[in-house]
Amino acid sequence: MLSLLAGLLSITCLTQLASAHGSLKAIEVGGQRYMAWQINQDQFQKPPPIRYARGCGDAGNIPISTLIPVNTGAKVKFVWDQWGSSHSGPVMTYMARCTPNCETFKGDSGPAWFKIDQMAYDKSKNPPWGSDMLGRNGATWNVTIPSSIAQGEYLRHEILGLHVAGKPNGAQFYPSCTQIKVSGSGTANPKGVALPGAYKPGDKDGILVELWKFNQGMVTYIAPGGPVWTGK
Ligand SMILES: *[C@@H]1O[C@H](CO)[C@@H](O)[C@H](O)[C@H]1NC(C)=O
Repeated sequence: MLSLLAGLLSITCLTQLASAHGSLKAIEVGGQRYMAWQINQDQFQKPPPIRYARGCGDAGNIPISTLIPVNTGAKVKFVWDQWGSSHSGPVMTYMARCTPNCETFKGDSGPAWFKIDQMAYDKSKNPPWGSDMLGRNGATWNVTIPSSIAQGEYLRHEILGLHVAGKPNGAQFYPSCTQIKVSGSGTANPKGVALPGAYKPGDKDGILVELWKFNQGMVTYIAPGGPVWTGK
């Protein structure tokens, strides 16, 4: 139990440490705004406020029972409180089907996480890093829920900050776990990667990296977690 919790904290739940740089504030779907867990505030509130993204860090990876209703093919907008321009890195959104439901699902075992959206480093774009693009777009990011996936309950969206990633464990993960209930007529039930598990601290293409080498075109950046699922 302890080692499992430690693994989760180091890989998926650094938001507490990282909260000075940015955290997910809200999620918008169809013009409706839903609040995320508010770091450094919500854990002091009794009773806990109603939130649609679960708490991380000190609050633990604690499933909640609330779900945002979303149709397949619909757009989901993630709204961060801020995003520091020096924290370049990829923006990645995964989904995992909560089984049997998000209220009990922790998502910490098995290849549950399939990537539905990503912007890593694309030098044809200005700015080329996903997180810098997110910052430029008012600290927001849109993703479209794949139209082919089966209905059910799903979660997650994250930013990886690589500004001090040149030293072991320097990469900073800013995960968020939004809980959504997907409706639609799709049937796909994709397999993905395990988180924790898929991110290796020694990954020299995506995690243990020096930003300036990519920025100067010396090496190619490959985001961790594998490619975006092609069955959308
Ligand atoms: C995200 O989607 C909203 C709603 O469709 C749109 O107003 C906004 O411009 C989009 N943001 C970006 C960065 O594309």
